[in-house]
Amino acid sequence: MNQPVELGKDDVPGGDRALSDTPPGALSEEARRQADTARAALTALRGEVAKAVVGQDSVVTGLVIALLCRGHVLLEGVPGTAKTLLIKTLSRALDLDFKRVQFTPDLMPGDVTGSLVYDNRTSEFDFREGPVFTNLLLADEINRTPPKTQASLLEAMEERQVSVEGSARPLPDPFVVCATQNPIEYEGTYPLPEAQLDRFLVKLTVPVPTRDEEISMLQRHAAGFDPRDLSAVQAVAGAGELAAGRAAVRAVHLDPKVAAYVVDLCRATRQSPSLQLGVSPRGATALLATSRAWAWLSGRDYVTPDDVKALARPTLRHRVQLRPEAELEGATADGVLEGILAHVPAPR
Ligand SMILES: Nc1ncnc2c1ncn2[C@@H]1O[C@H](COP(=O)(O)OP(=O)(O)OP(=O)(O)O)[C@@H](O)[C@H]1O
Ligand SMILES: [Mg+2]
Repeated sequence: MNQPVELGKDDVPGGDRALSDTPPGALSEEARRQADTARAALTALRGEVAKAVVGQDSVVTGLVIALLCRGHVLLEGVPGTAKTLLIKTLSRALDLDFKRVQFTPDLMPGDVTGSLVYDNRTSEFDFREGPVFTNLLLADEINRTPPKTQASLLEAMEERQVSVEGSARPLPDPFVVCATQNPIEYEGTYPLPEAQLDRFLVKLTVPVPTRDEEISMLQRHAAGFDPRDLSAVQAVAGAGELAAGRAAVRAVHLDPKVAAYVVDLCRATRQSPSLQLGVSPRGATALLATSRAWAWLSGRDYVTPDDVKALARPTLRHRVQLRPEAELEGATADGVLEGILAHVPAPR
């Protein structure tokens, strides 16, 4: 009955889905029209990304949900699964300012946030903004840089500002970080501090493509596709669509029973014998936010338990810590969450 739903291809809303049968929400007629246009544009993003990236639909959907929630994304996957290509393509499909930082072992905090530079002419120090001053930041291979530099980015993510010499400089709005990392057991990596992982709204795992997807990828390459040339990708959405979408997500109705379901799931993680750390109340608010965004993207103005189930793993998997014994026995965060989804009764 209570099958956990993985966010996948089949769940993806068509931009053309009829909305006329949805009961009127708290939005004005004008705001509804804007929201519908925004939904169509955000759905079209998927098509643009697909011009370069074969498959990975649920990752793209997760990224759109994060943008709608103004949340940061951690993308994890083994090398060569198009993590970098995905974000670069998404940034072209969005009319937003985009910067990329390759996190290397010798990267300094100032290389990310910016630094004071002495100006000879004025004999004063000027602040030179680092790449963090942008709308969409690709923090590529974040776990290849030492903790001090990671911390400078994590601080900026949390506070949405950079403090230099006592003065705070706000970051642009939206400011969304897409950080990529290889699974932590890879050599030469610095795992992100577990206590700071919940600054990421979602952790998306980028799977190895299916056989058919991989064949179609090779055919594209054989036909001349060059991943360095993304000129075919058009900007189809921007800050306006994201703002209209956000307003509509805020109007998505929450049944008290669904709120209780979110809480029950999070409480169950705190009692799980396989976990030494369960989901915090902040994690519960995150799950509610992503579920509402997904409900709206799916063309509804109310959240269902299935929305919550679909977003539970991406939103919660990095917010729980396995007990070492459970880890030795081969347990995974996703596996534990799946068990919880199967056991906690969902409202009907
Ligand atoms: N799903 C896919 N669709 C299209 N191309 C793909 C896909 N997966 C891999 N590729 C190809 O593999 C190349 C490597 O992808 P990319 O550099 O984005 O991987 P990555 O996951 O960022 O790897 P790393 O962890 O080493 O940085 C791409 O340029 C593309 O040619
Ligand atoms: Mg990469």
